[in-house]
Amino acid sequence: MISTQTQPTKLTFDVVKIRKDFPILSQQVHGKALVYLDNAATSQKPQVVIDSLVRYYTEFNSNVHRGVHLLSEQATKAYEESRVKVQRYINAKRSEEIIFTRGTTEGINLVAQSFGRANIHEGDEIIISGMEHHSNIVPWQMLCAEKKATLRVIPIDDNGEIILDEYVKLFNDKTRFAAYTHVSNALGTVNPIKHMIETAHAHNVPVLIDGAQAIPHLRIDVQELDYDFYVFSSHKMFGPTGIGVVYGKKSLLETMPPYQGGGDMIKSVTFEKTIYNDLPYKFEAGTPNIADTIAFGVAIDYLNSLDFEAIHDYEQELLEYATEKLSTVNGLTIIGTAREKAGVVSFTLDGIHPHDIGTILDTEGIAIRTGHHCAQLVMQRFCVPATARASFAFYNTKNEIDALVDGINKVKEIFS
Ligand SMILES: Cc1ncc(COP(=O)(O)O)c(C=O)c1O
Repeated sequence: MISTQTQPTKLTFDVVKIRKDFPILSQQVHGKALVYLDNAATSQKPQVVIDSLVRYYTEFNSNVHRGVHLLSEQATKAYEESRVKVQRYINAKRSEEIIFTRGTTEGINLVAQSFGRANIHEGDEIIISGMEHHSNIVPWQMLCAEKKATLRVIPIDDNGEIILDEYVKLFNDKTRFAAYTHVSNALGTVNPIKHMIETAHAHNVPVLIDGAQAIPHLRIDVQELDYDFYVFSSHKMFGPTGIGVVYGKKSLLETMPPYQGGGDMIKSVTFEKTIYNDLPYKFEAGTPNIADTIAFGVAIDYLNSLDFEAIHDYEQELLEYATEKLSTVNGLTIIGTAREKAGVVSFTLDGIHPHDIGTILDTEGIAIRTGHHCAQLVMQRFCVPATARASFAFYNTKNEIDALVDGINKVKEIFS
């Protein structure tokens, strides 16, 4: 019998050992040891996740929910096991509350097109924040354009923190929905989500939280904070691309119409009428991303095998170390200095375009992200065209941060 369970062993945190789980990290780039500091864009994958993909296609590739043959039963079992692993990972009450999507972007579109189209009407208002990724702006803009509704934006201060007093003022009797990020990908800010959700709920407004950047760094308990919708991607949490999750409260999901029509999301079809399937299948039309979903479950097993508190403390130590070291570089400005941050240092260098910084660092084997990070409105807020962004995962080291600082000094030399 095929099982996708890996054997969890509780480890105390040992970065040297952990790095061996990620084969890509021992690679050389341009003849230099790879220093991968672009984890906010996508994280690297441990060998167990890679093995899971190979194993699925080698041993039991088959379609799910349809076949009566053994391979299909095995694929279905493994696919549904992943749903339960996600449910437990975020402490959802029920596995039907876990909807698989292609990722955060598709998840937000699902909620906007399904919940939004059913519940937002002319004159209504939706609140988002001024630090959103484009994925949590554009779907709401599209909905507002269609419904003649209005988007209201929570301003952010010079540190990159949400101005809570202004947030409260945005609520009125036209407010129907709120959507904001848990952690900013461009600034690293961790938002006071508990307080923000309580405020929205006090006005009877449901909230979608974009958890894309939070889920790799923070323990998420969807019941504890009473999340209505929590959306995230596997590829930022050491799993494969092309698979993500919408967590939704059952009471909300049940009222929502399907987002897409097709196979698997139906109970029966006649030319006159379709009866939709139950949750979660109502929202999973067509053949799903089976291999990646199963491997996503293996990534969750892998995360469960680590000591989460130790990882969290270590990542915070890396962030503090990087912030301290980078602050000593003349001409370097850190964009995003919130009191609570997770895993991101965005910066500019006087007189040097971020793309030049990124290109020169690449020749040193150092991978960072440069540009607007799909957060053009954050760049506008801080009056910069772009930033260079180093983002960390638990497999990074202080030596790699030292390499980054040396690399930045080289960039400065070249431009001096
Ligand atoms: C805050 C945030 N939201 C949404 C997304 C979109 O995620 P995906 O590209 O996996 O759909 C990202 C990706 O960088 C992100 O950082």
